[in-house]
Amino acid sequence: MNAVVAGDSISPYKLLFRGLTLIPIYHYLLLAFLVLVIFIYNLLEIHIVEDIFGGFAGGSVSLTFHPTSDLYREVVSKCHLLHGRYVATPWLSSPHLQTILLNVLVKTPKFSYKREIFHTCDGGTIALDWLMSSDVSETSVQVNGTSTVSVIPLVIVIPGLTSDSTSPYMKEIAYKMAKHGWNVVVSNHRGLGGVPLTSECFYTAGKSDDLGEVVNHLHRKHPETPLYAVGTSLGANILVKYLGEEGDNVPLVGAASVSNPWDLLIGDRFFTRGIMQRFYNRVMGNSLKGAAKLHQEVYARLSDWEGIEKSRSVRDFNNYSARVAGNFDSIDSFYRWASSARLVTNISVPLLCVNAIDDPVCTDEAIPWDECRKNKNIVLATTQHGGHIAFFEGMSGKSLWWIRVVEEYLSNLHASSPMSKKQAQKFVESSVETPQFQDLLS
Ligand SMILES: *[C@@H]1O[C@H](CO)[C@@H](O)[C@H](O)[C@H]1NC(C)=O
Ligand SMILES: *[C@@H]1O[C@H](CO)[C@@H](O)[C@H](O)[C@H]1NC(C)=O
Ligand SMILES: *[C@@H]1O[C@H](CO)[C@@H](O)[C@H](O)[C@H]1NC(C)=O
Repeated sequence: MNAVVAGDSISPYKLLFRGLTLIPIYHYLLLAFLVLVIFIYNLLEIHIVEDIFGGFAGGSVSLTFHPTSDLYREVVSKCHLLHGRYVATPWLSSPHLQTILLNVLVKTPKFSYKREIFHTCDGGTIALDWLMSSDVSETSVQVNGTSTVSVIPLVIVIPGLTSDSTSPYMKEIAYKMAKHGWNVVVSNHRGLGGVPLTSECFYTAGKSDDLGEVVNHLHRKHPETPLYAVGTSLGANILVKYLGEEGDNVPLVGAASVSNPWDLLIGDRFFTRGIMQRFYNRVMGNSLKGAAKLHQEVYARLSDWEGIEKSRSVRDFNNYSARVAGNFDSIDSFYRWASSARLVTNISVPLLCVNAIDDPVCTDEAIPWDECRKNKNIVLATTQHGGHIAFFEGMSGKSLWWIRVVEEYLSNLHASSPMSKKQAQKFVESSVETPQFQDLLS
C-alpha cells in the first residue's frame, strides 16, 4: 500500500510497465493476431461481414442508360440477370481474391481451337482461334432469332493485356458461347498466341486498327453472318476505342465490354496509390516485359529496349515501348490517346458495358457515366463487387457471372428483330456467295 502512496518515488511509467508485464503473453499474441486479421481484412477489401449481415443476398445491378434508349427497351429490359442480383462466392468475398484467383479457379474447358492466320495490310500476323458451335455440341443449338434459320451468329472475343485464347477465362467464354449456339473466334493481339511479329509494329493499349482489320476481314468473308464482339479488360478498351473511332462504319450488330479500364491515365494514377495496386502494377509490368521478350529484336528496333528491361511498372514499360514507338511527347499523351472513354459518345452499335465498382485493377473513377448516359446505344451495368473480369458466383466458385450476362445479352440482342435487323441490313452487301465456316477451316 505504501509503495503506491509514495507516488514521487516511483515513476508512473514504471508502474505501467510493471502492470503490462503482468499480462500473460498469449493475450499479446491474441491482440497481434486480431490486428493482423483487421489489417488483412482491410488490405484485401474483404466484405464477408457485410455479406453475412446481408444474408448473402448480394447486390442489385445498377443500370445506367439514356431514358429513351432503344437498347434498354428492346434488349436489356429482357435480360433477367441484369435485373437480378450478383452474389459473390462467399469464400471469395474480396475483389483481390477474385482477381488474383481468376485464372487459378476457372476450370479450363477441354477443347482445341482451329487456327486461322490473318495478315494485316502492313504485313503483321494475327492468330484467329476458332471454336464452332458444332464442335462442342452434337445437337446444334439454334440461337433464337428471326433471321437465324440458316446463319449461326459469330462472336469475336478480344482478350485482355497479355492474355490470349488459351487463358482460362478466354477458353471459358469461348466454350460457353459455343455451347449456346454461337460460333466463336478469339482475335489474339499481335505477337501473342504464339505467332511471330512479322512487321515493324507491336500491339499497344490503344491499337484498335488491328481489330478493325479483323472485323472487316470476317465481314467480307461472311457477309450474311451477324457479327458481334466481346472485349475483356484491355481488350474492352481496344474494342470500345474501335467502335468510337469507326462510328457508323462498324459492321458489327452488337458488342459487350467487360471490366474496361476506360481511361488509362486515371488508371495509371490509381496504380500508384495502394499497396495492392502497386503489386498489380509490378505483376502486370513483368508480364508485359515477358511478352515483349518473345519479340526482342522488333521491340529493340522500334523502342528503347534498355528502358523496357529496367521497367518496374506498366507505366515504365509503356513509356519505353509504346510512347517511343508511337512518337508521343509524353507517356500521359499516349495514355490520353489510347483511352476508350473519350470516344464513347461516337459509338453507334448496341453496347453493353459491365464493370465492378470494387475492380482493383481498373478503377471505377475512370467509368464515363455521363457519356454512357448520353449515348442511346449504350447500357452500363455496374455491380458493387466482382473484382476484375472475375465475378465468381456459386458455392464452388467455378461460375463466372459476367459470362452468363454477356451470353444472355447477346442472345437477346440477336433475337430482338428491330435492333439486329437494323444493324445487319445496313451492312449486308449484295454478296455473290456465302462461304461456310467449314470451308474456311478445312
Ligand atoms: C428458343 O426459344 C424456345 C421457345 O421459343 C426455348 O424453348 C428455347 O430454350 C430457346 N433457345 C435458346 C437457345 O434460347
Ligand atoms: C466518329 O464516327 C465517324 C463515323 O461515323 C468517324 O468518321 C469519326 O472520325 C468518329 N469520330 C472520332 C472522334 O473518332
Ligand atoms: C519516359 O522516358 C524518358 C526517356 O525515354 C524519360 O526521360 C522520362 O523521364 C520517362 N518518363 C516517365 C514518366 O517515366
